[in-house]
Amino acid sequence: MTTALTAVLLTALTACGSGGGNAADDGKITMGFAQVGAESGWRTANTKSVQESAKSAGIELKFSDAQQKQENQIKAIRSYIQQKVDVIAFSPVVETGWDTVLLEAKRAKIPVILTDRAIDSDDTSLYETFLGSDFIDEGKKAAQWLVENSSGPTNVVELQGTTGAAPAIDRKEGFEDVIRSKPDIRIVASQTGDFTRSGGKQVMEAFLKSQPDIDVVYAHNDDMGLGAIEAIKAAGKKPGVDIKIITVDAVKDGMTALAGGEINFIVECNPLLGPQLMDLAKKVVDGEEVPERVVTEETTFTQDQAKTALPDRKY
Ligand code: AHR
Repeated sequence: MTTALTAVLLTALTACGSGGGNAADDGKITMGFAQVGAESGWRTANTKSVQESAKSAGIELKFSDAQQKQENQIKAIRSYIQQKVDVIAFSPVVETGWDTVLLEAKRAKIPVILTDRAIDSDDTSLYETFLGSDFIDEGKKAAQWLVENSSGPTNVVELQGTTGAAPAIDRKEGFEDVIRSKPDIRIVASQTGDFTRSGGKQVMEAFLKSQPDIDVVYAHNDDMGLGAIEAIKAAGKKPGVDIKIITVDAVKDGMTALAGGEINFIVECNPLLGPQLMDLAKKVVDGEEVPERVVTEETTFTQDQAKTALPDRKY
């Protein structure tokens, strides 16, 4: 073997041996985190949790905001691969279309952690673990409350999250699963408000014009519910009374509206995933076994429960 060829092979082997990252070189873990955006109060709390937890765990964080665009997240992941980070974590904007870029990460031997949202792929070897809520269960809890707190024909309008996003797909599915056995409860209109307050307001304004008889709003997050409240008030109706409102998240603004009687029920979705994410990252980089799925524990809030919980609410 020529000296030059030996040198090339040695360089390649060294690159493989270091796991593609630099933890082995300097003992410090670098994480590339590709965030969805800043679309909601939930997302802001989630970003803060990730940034603060990285700092206290001594993990160097490279952070990017995809502004709710999948192509931006893919670009960010590719740049983390090029920078040879030790671990990549991301919260996928939508469920599908990740196999190619995640295969690139796998080939570069950079482990990937899904956080908050899952992907739809047959190849589970593309990521180490998925940390986040059970969105189907959240949809079920929302519907269960409605089943227990409604009587007679009930017309529901649904404000869906971002089209193609796991929480939008699953919260719809869970809700529909439960109301299927209650023919009196009908979803009369359903449209995406993109998880934003302005989106929720706009869609609700349109619903109020096209639907003569709305009893309930089911919003896939607090922000869209808060937007719907503005539209309902502008239409001369009383949110929480003339039209009941159910949302998901339980961020401070949502809880304040719940305690004030303008929302009727909130299903919690916990954004404080940072500490668990950093623990998982350390384990994955150290080559330790981690569970395939880590489900976040969550509760629900009635108006009275919101009044009690609000003073200590961290986000
Ligand atoms: O993926 C979690 C969801 O995304 C939250 O419920 C919503 O507020 C956010 O935008």
